[in-house]
Amino acid sequence: MVDRRGFLSSFAGLAGTAGALNLAREWPALFEQEAPELPDAALYASDEEAYWGQLRKQFLIPADEVYLNNGTVGSSPMPVLRAIFDGYNETEKMAQKDPEDYPIWGYASWNEFRDPVAAFVGCNRDEFALLRNATEANSYIANGLDMKPGEEVLMTDQEHPGGEHPWNLKAKRYGIVVKKVTLPKPVPNAAAVLNLFNDAITPRTRVVFFSHIPTVTGVVLPAKELCALARSKGILSAVDGAHVPGMMKLNLHELGCDMYSSSPHKWLQAPKGSGFLFVRDEVIDRLWNTIATEGWNDTKIRAERFQRIGSSNVPALWGLRAAVQLANEIGMERIEKRHRQMADYILKEMVKRDAESWTSPDPALRCAIAAVNVPPIQIGEIENWMWKNKKIRIRGGAPSKIRLSTPYYLLRKDVNRFLAAFDEYQTAKNESPRT
Ligand SMILES: Cc1ncc(COP(=O)(O)O)c(C=O)c1O
Repeated sequence: MVDRRGFLSSFAGLAGTAGALNLAREWPALFEQEAPELPDAALYASDEEAYWGQLRKQFLIPADEVYLNNGTVGSSPMPVLRAIFDGYNETEKMAQKDPEDYPIWGYASWNEFRDPVAAFVGCNRDEFALLRNATEANSYIANGLDMKPGEEVLMTDQEHPGGEHPWNLKAKRYGIVVKKVTLPKPVPNAAAVLNLFNDAITPRTRVVFFSHIPTVTGVVLPAKELCALARSKGILSAVDGAHVPGMMKLNLHELGCDMYSSSPHKWLQAPKGSGFLFVRDEVIDRLWNTIATEGWNDTKIRAERFQRIGSSNVPALWGLRAAVQLANEIGMERIEKRHRQMADYILKEMVKRDAESWTSPDPALRCAIAAVNVPPIQIGEIENWMWKNKKIRIRGGAPSKIRLSTPYYLLRKDVNRFLAAFDEYQTAKNESPRT
């Protein structure tokens, strides 16, 4: 056992220079002690940047690394990691009081996990199933709806493969038709998106499927209005919300969608392999199970039947619950404000550097992801250069798009480091002899 001071200093070591080896050595001690304290609310009032700097210490990302790719995967902070290990610690002794409660998990209501997460995203436990990620939940949606050959699903041209391909599979297997609207880059306003969808709906459209925040540009689509449009025409709405929980405030009942999938490992910093599917109560009985075990046909258990997937990783749910608790403690309002400030800052600075913005000019249609187009820079080349030379993680898309994610734990000095590195890269490129 180390004392609290010892723990804090070992944690500081981890946050600083930790590699996997260091971590392995310190790990047991970490879990015998309390986590580093969260910053005081008074600090936020006096110095916001210092407040986020304190929170940054909850993350294992080394202090000399700049992580601008939270949009692909988040980093779970200490309270989440500790909860996962507490979960294992509690369960793997196989000493549960109830002889039926050893880890055969996969057949339970899991209300102790469903309730806080459902409350966090504004729905009821009975409409909410804990799954492993958005891809799984999207597959549940596409696979579970009855559709006849020739009937259409309408989506955008910016869906993630984990959102689009479940429908492509259904098209190949059952002859449904996948139709797409092409989103402008950037999306100028909500009306442009609504018009695109409205014009593409036909008498055969059965489902409107779209990412609340598409991975390509990070635009925040007008989800509430799109769902209302679908509903007004008797069409089901299914929303891929992989990026939303933890990035922005979310209330599924207010949103008015029929189905919603998510991967809180991104912006809620929850464990990898913890996701969810929301199905509106009136729609639950129209959705078939994809995975079937005991309970698949029990309509009384409502959305719980979708989470009956066999043996599962329950300690990940401990971590998911802790991630919700942390976000609530910090406050989603505060987190969302920080996300917007940092993304706006990085975007403004990139535009000053002649980057073409693919981020919506409408503040309502953007949050914590800024996308810019920077030809003739090649994304693969700059990604590698940034990581190898500067320990900065960025991600983008071919040929020249850079997608910059700004989670709350990213500090202003980190953004400035990236900007300086970008300038250096540009200068080096301009000076190198052209071939
Ligand atoms: C919009 C969207 N949907 C789905 C996914 C897939 O997420 P997962 O791999 O967690 O299922 C992603 C991942 O980047 C995404 O951006």
